[in-house]
Amino acid sequence: MGSFFSLTLIILSWVSLLSTEAEAEGIRSARLLDLLIRDNIVKSFDKHLKTGTVQTVNLPANFSGIKVETARFRCGSLHRYGAQVKEFYLGKGVNVQPCAERVMVVRQNLGSNWSSIYYANYNLSGYQLVSPVLGLLAYNAGTDVSSGTPFEVGILARENNPIKINFSNVITNTTSSRRGIRPLCASFGGDGKVRLKNQVSPNVCVATRHGHFGLLIELPQSMPVRKRISRWKLAVGSSIGAALGAFLLGLLLVSMLVK
Ligand SMILES: *[C@@H]1O[C@H](CO)[C@@H](O)[C@H](O)[C@H]1NC(C)=O
Ligand SMILES: *[C@@H]1O[C@H](CO)[C@@H](O)[C@H](O)[C@H]1NC(C)=O
Ligand SMILES: *[C@@H]1O[C@H](CO)[C@@H](O)[C@H](O)[C@H]1NC(C)=O
Ligand SMILES: *[C@@H]1O[C@H](CO)[C@@H](O)[C@H](O)[C@H]1NC(C)=O
Ligand SMILES: *[C@@H]1O[C@H](CO)[C@@H](O)[C@H](O)[C@H]1NC(C)=O
Repeated sequence: MGSFFSLTLIILSWVSLLSTEAEAEGIRSARLLDLLIRDNIVKSFDKHLKTGTVQTVNLPANFSGIKVETARFRCGSLHRYGAQVKEFYLGKGVNVQPCAERVMVVRQNLGSNWSSIYYANYNLSGYQLVSPVLGLLAYNAGTDVSSGTPFEVGILARENNPIKINFSNVITNTTSSRRGIRPLCASFGGDGKVRLKNQVSPNVCVATRHGHFGLLIELPQSMPVRKRISRWKLAVGSSIGAALGAFLLGLLLVSMLVK
């Protein structure tokens, strides 16, 4: 009986190993990617750089396609004068919360390779991204940035003077605009929800807080191919699971009967 039982255990652990390996294949979490990018920024941060100067961050080769720029500001001057960091225009009156003295503003362009993980993290069914995902994040840069981990802080703008995001130079699929379709502005919330809004002018979106943003177009209604494949996968997956379950149950029964 013992050997049958241990065989069952071995098979069980092998099955669970396979599934964890599949998950560790690559980074799938948008939040984890933010943290890894932050760590690389901290490593390469030039603290002698003048405040307000936009600096390009070089990321390791395995982040291929991601472009990151950062700039350090005094919260007070950011509030008084606003600033532009690549596609993001922060108007006057923007607030950093909480901020003691300085803030490090980060702009991410996740490129085509990494933007696709947003399909896995958010429900975009029925839509297609036609721009890379752009991120605007901020970290405290109060004291020495290289000592200790900077924590994330918020960038908050007023409804009547919001943050503008100009996608004109990064839009990847212009097929839709040529057909006269204006893509929608998507903002990817920290709560896992996507919020859709109309553009305020061609390829320009507005937001009242930091986060990740992209342009979406609605896919034509009938997209049976993708659905059929996923149903097919589901059917195969569940029948394999059921077969395996029956097999294990059988083993267990046999091990109980054969003494
Ligand atoms: C890139 O490699 C480093 C070191 O091997 C690892 O810590 C990091 O998670 C990797 N990044 C990605 C995006 O895979
Ligand atoms: C996307 O990833 C592939 C392999 O992972 C790489 O060869 C390619 O250069 C990447 N594309 C961009 C735009 O970086
Ligand atoms: C995803 O969003 C669509 C509407 O855009 C909705 O019909 C669908 O039920 C949602 N799926 C999940 C898993 O929440
Ligand atoms: C957005 O950028 C494009 C290209 O740089 C420019 O022509 C356009 O005027 C900008 N739009 C706004 C509202 O700033
Ligand atoms: C561009 O969008 C159209 C739908 O409007 C889609 O059919 C096409 O495959 C997209 N092209 C690329 C390169 O993503």
